[in-house]
Amino acid sequence: MAGFKVAIDGPAGSGKSTISKMIAKELGMTHVDTGAMYRAVTLLAIERRINLNDESQYDFLETIQISYHDDQIYVDNRIVEDDIRSKEVTENVSLVSSFPYVRKKMVDIQKNLSTSGDIIMDGRDIGTVVIPNADLKIFLVADVVERAKRRQLEKHKKGFKVDLEKLVEEITTRDHKDSSRAESPLRKADDAIIVDTTNLTVNQSVKKIIELIQSAKGAINE
Ligand code: DC
Repeated sequence: MAGFKVAIDGPAGSGKSTISKMIAKELGMTHVDTGAMYRAVTLLAIERRINLNDESQYDFLETIQISYHDDQIYVDNRIVEDDIRSKEVTENVSLVSSFPYVRKKMVDIQKNLSTSGDIIMDGRDIGTVVIPNADLKIFLVADVVERAKRRQLEKHKKGFKVDLEKLVEEITTRDHKDSSRAESPLRKADDAIIVDTTNLTVNQSVKKIIELIQSAKGAINE
C-alpha cells in the first residue's frame, strides 16, 4: 500500500512542526520537517563562508548528504537540530530557500521520503509541489501577533528575552519573503483545508487535524 500522505503548509510560527510531530506520534506516522532541511543548507552555507547571495556557490550540496530519519535532520552523520535554530540561520533561511538549485535538491529528497508509508510532511510547498497528490492537505494559519507570542514564550523557556514587536516584525518579513519569491512561493493549494490555530491550544489543533485525517481516511475507504 502506498500509505496515507498528509501535507501541512503554512507561514512561520503557525505551529506546523510541533503539531505534525504530535500527530505523527499519536497515529504512528513518519514526520518530516522540510523547513529543517532548508535550515541545514543555510547552516552549512554560513559555516563554509560562501557568498550567500551567489546561487552557484551552493554546489557543495553535490557532495554533502542531507537526510532525515527518526524525526531528526542529519548532515552526513552530524545531527544539526540545535545549530539550525540559531538567529543567524533564521535570518538567512528565506534567502537560501529562494534559490531554484537549492529547492530542486531538497524537493528531490522530500519526494523520495514521501513515497514510503504513512507520512505527515510540513513546510511551505508540500501540498503544491512536493506531494501534490496528498490524501489530505492542511493550510495552517494563525494571527501574526499570536505567532509572535508563541515564539516569545519558546525563547523565554530557553532563557532568552525578546521583544514582542521585534518578533512581529521578523515574522512579517519572513512571511513576505516566503510568499513573494518566484520559485514555489508559500501559497494554499486549491484543495487544502484552512485550519486557523489563533484561538486553539496545541492539543486542540492536534485533535482537529486528527479528526480531518480520520474523515479523509473514511472517505477513501468508502
Ligand atoms: O518551517 P521553518 O520556519 O523552519 O522554515 C524555515 C524556512 O525554510 C522558511 O522561512 C521558508 C523555507 N521553507 C521553504 O521554502 N519550503 C519548505 N517546504 C519549508 C521551509
